[in-house]
Amino acid sequence: MNRVYIKTYGCQMNERDSDAVAAMLRNRGYRIVSDEAECDIMLLNTCSVRDAAEQKAIGKAGHVGKRRRKQPDLVIGILGCMAQNRGAELLDSLPDVDLIVGTQKFHQVPDYLDNIRAARDAGVPLGESIVDIDEEEDSQNTIRDHLETETAQISAFVSIQQGCNMDCHFCIVPKTRGDERSRPMEDIVAECRNLAAKGVREITLLGQIVTSYGRRDYVHTNGVSPFVQLIEKVHEIDGIERIRFTSPHPRGFKQDLVEAYGRLPKLCEYVHLPMQSGSNRILKAMNRPYSRERYREIVDALRTVRPDMYFSTDIIVGFPGESDEDFEQTRQLFEACNYDMAYIFKYSIRSGTVAADLGDQISEEVKEHRNQVLLEILRKNSGARNESLVGTVQEVLVEGPDKKGLHFTGRTRGNRVAIFDADPRLVGHFVPMHVDRATVSSLYGSLVLSGVEN
Ligand code: 5AD
Repeated sequence: MNRVYIKTYGCQMNERDSDAVAAMLRNRGYRIVSDEAECDIMLLNTCSVRDAAEQKAIGKAGHVGKRRRKQPDLVIGILGCMAQNRGAELLDSLPDVDLIVGTQKFHQVPDYLDNIRAARDAGVPLGESIVDIDEEEDSQNTIRDHLETETAQISAFVSIQQGCNMDCHFCIVPKTRGDERSRPMEDIVAECRNLAAKGVREITLLGQIVTSYGRRDYVHTNGVSPFVQLIEKVHEIDGIERIRFTSPHPRGFKQDLVEAYGRLPKLCEYVHLPMQSGSNRILKAMNRPYSRERYREIVDALRTVRPDMYFSTDIIVGFPGESDEDFEQTRQLFEACNYDMAYIFKYSIRSGTVAADLGDQISEEVKEHRNQVLLEILRKNSGARNESLVGTVQEVLVEGPDKKGLHFTGRTRGNRVAIFDADPRLVGHFVPMHVDRATVSSLYGSLVLSGVEN
């Protein structure tokens, strides 16, 4: 009765939180299973950033609730952002849910599950569901949900900071993740060292607004921000060969970070830089404190330091009041930045945000049209970039067999998915791959075996 299935919705931070919950549960003697039909405990780690994400998880929870008729002992938990956002109100429509745990209480999940199981084993009726969406006391500098995962990993996400104080008018994250809190630098570095010793070669530093990392806790030294100081420290760790981060804010993307790309070779030439809109009027309405000109300046500065830089972004189409002219500004900047990857979102009303109360909502058809326009540009640009790599040799970090087990997959430094034939002994190693052909999303290639005749 201790088999747990965890389903994760949303961002990389949620993936990492699920990993941490899984690790804690394993330490408590629970078994994490990969087949949901086989579980005794179903945990949904949820996302609130758009309505569709919440509806997906609510639908799933309702569906799982029905399974209780056949499996009365099944325990159902909702964790993370939607739990934080909606709390006990979820029980109105989902009465079968036993556990609701917010984003600052992940570390309590094992205790709560122990209690629920103990009550069931003793035949005691459960009574009320457990709801814990409190803030964690003293969490300003300690985020207690960063337990390291113990599974063999090549590439790891490391949480450096949580929460956000930016107040973008479309965004629910300040409500779901709370105030900005940074972890102490030495804790993060110790975690990265540990991961390196376990075979991790690539680290992605994670936070809602990583460029603000440590701004209350550390000072700039010689014009270098705490975030760049942290990157420097991770850079010194033997065994870690690639460093990435997500997400920065254009406002905090200063010259020290641009220059870091020139002097820190482990910092991969791939930057995810959310633009949101290319219209100054809409950026202002979104409460994003930068202009399209400043955004372009950062992209150009990075390309000057690293001409082979890859870019990715987040865009919202159909923010309230976005006119054809506003969208045209976004379209032009989007095209000019020549992205290799982009996450394009149709604006979704989030209750409790400033933009939810703005008039002038944009119709679904217009949002969909604008979405398609940008997707087409992305397809063209990323396809052309991948095509230009055919015939070159790229360094690939081998991650493992693909889903069908026919080939191996890995990533280039530019975060392109690489597919090739290899040997299990190469997992976790950096190999040179000749790019034979390319699609919009992947590079297909063959390993370069030096000294071996073809
Ligand atoms: N509607 C649509 N997209 C949103 N995002 C955040 N809030 C909303 C919303 N209300 C997008 C932003 C952000 C990404 C994680 O999700 O682009 O960068």
